[in-house]
Amino acid sequence: MKKREQWGTRIGLILAMAGNAIGLGNFLRFPVQAADNGGGAFMIPYFISFILLGIPLMWIEWGIGRYGGTVGHGTAPGMFDALWKNRLAKYIGILGILLPLIVVVYYVYICSWTLAFGITSIFGYLPHPNVDPSSITPQEYLWPYKDHLYQYIGATSSGLFLRPTPSAYLFFIITLLLAFRILYKGIVGGIEKLNKIAIPALFLMAVVLLIRVITLPSPVGNSLKALDGFSFLWEPDLTGLLSSKVWLAAAGQIFFTLSLGMGAIMTYASYARKDEDIALDGLSTASLNEFAEVVLGSTIAIVSAVVFFGPNGAKEIAGGGAFNLGFISMPAIFSNMPFGHFFGFIWFLLLFFAGLTSVVALSQPAIAFLEDEFGWKREKSVMVLGLAFFIFAHVPIFINGALDEMDFWAGTFGLVILALMEVVIFFWIFGSENGWREITRGAHIKIPKVFYYIMKYVTPTFLVVIIVAWSYNQLPDILSKSDSGIWIARLFLVTLLIVHIVAVRVAWTRRRK
Ligand code: PHE
Repeated sequence: MKKREQWGTRIGLILAMAGNAIGLGNFLRFPVQAADNGGGAFMIPYFISFILLGIPLMWIEWGIGRYGGTVGHGTAPGMFDALWKNRLAKYIGILGILLPLIVVVYYVYICSWTLAFGITSIFGYLPHPNVDPSSITPQEYLWPYKDHLYQYIGATSSGLFLRPTPSAYLFFIITLLLAFRILYKGIVGGIEKLNKIAIPALFLMAVVLLIRVITLPSPVGNSLKALDGFSFLWEPDLTGLLSSKVWLAAAGQIFFTLSLGMGAIMTYASYARKDEDIALDGLSTASLNEFAEVVLGSTIAIVSAVVFFGPNGAKEIAGGGAFNLGFISMPAIFSNMPFGHFFGFIWFLLLFFAGLTSVVALSQPAIAFLEDEFGWKREKSVMVLGLAFFIFAHVPIFINGALDEMDFWAGTFGLVILALMEVVIFFWIFGSENGWREITRGAHIKIPKVFYYIMKYVTPTFLVVIIVAWSYNQLPDILSKSDSGIWIARLFLVTLLIVHIVAVRVAWTRRRK
């Protein structure tokens, strides 16, 4: 067996995992989900999902990943194959390479917008209407910012093709090159080093913005201040408990933000040492992510929107689309304050660091697969995949509707399926005693035994309920969409699936020889 790379230091590993989990999901997706689903009504299902799905699955993925690493596998096909002696196992594991690959193809593009917007904001090129916000409605006030984003990504007409500006394409290439340059340098010299700089910098920038936001005066002359923003989010509202839409949104957010059900945590964990304290590390990853999400991300984006546009305004903005708070309301707010260019720059740079560290995490499973299962050198794997990602990304960049379609199948639906497979294979087939022993081996903290039962019974049941509810509530809508852009995206996804099946087959036939 080839010797696999290992993380250089423990703090490096924890920061890398934090960088994996903390991403655009924390600063763009969470605020929109929370505001759109009623703020305080969202938070209770969100925290319950965190305890019953997030933490258990985090430990399970660390457990499967470290175990896989010790037997020479960095991705789910090899890991599942080692845990379950069945020829199907490796094919189920395909999801652990395919899902992050689909997500990264559009995620890297969105990440590139943040770089572009950061640079334009420092040079003052973002729209700056110089109007008094109290004299017009939030919609009117936000319009130039919305227009700016839509022009940039070329989403102004509803035809088959999007027409992004040349600079959008250029920034996409720059971001992709940067990510692959880091990946080229490997686990310690690339990924670990990036995260050791980016994650502390990100926290620092977030604190600066946080202070700015909570001292924000209300522009419309009424008494709305930061406290109203906080009560919008933190005043518990039990009605959310009764709404399946809110539950699905909350559970989906927990998966996405913690990078669960994707394979990305398992791949990073496969580079951990045999006796690494994964119980504590997994918990640290989850806590750092939640701090970045509910304390930093939500305060910055939601509180400022509430101060500026009122609770109803914030809700309405969030309801208008996934990028509305981060790319539309934030620049609009910054343009109306002293040193707004500077704060706008910090905001987008923070997003860029959050995004870039997740882009490398989403890319690593495919790289690890080529290295471990095909025996390719890292350099070769990185070059080949870099080129493939470049080509694939043209689908979401140019085809109208493709991004949302890919996001649904890989970033929303697929990850719940993979998560269910993980629990079943690790806790039911490999066995709950074995699984528990793997997770607690080398641990200095004692995981309460109740989590053993949660992992065995509650988490899988919860997952099945989500899958059923989703299929019932959302699948019909998704399936009934049939514009040509959507069909191109579906064709693309099916092709990728077939390529993955063939790749796994070839890898395993070769191994037998
Ligand atoms: N967790 C990341 C975010 O919040 C996204 C991500 C998902 C990264 C899955 C890696 C794997 O943006």
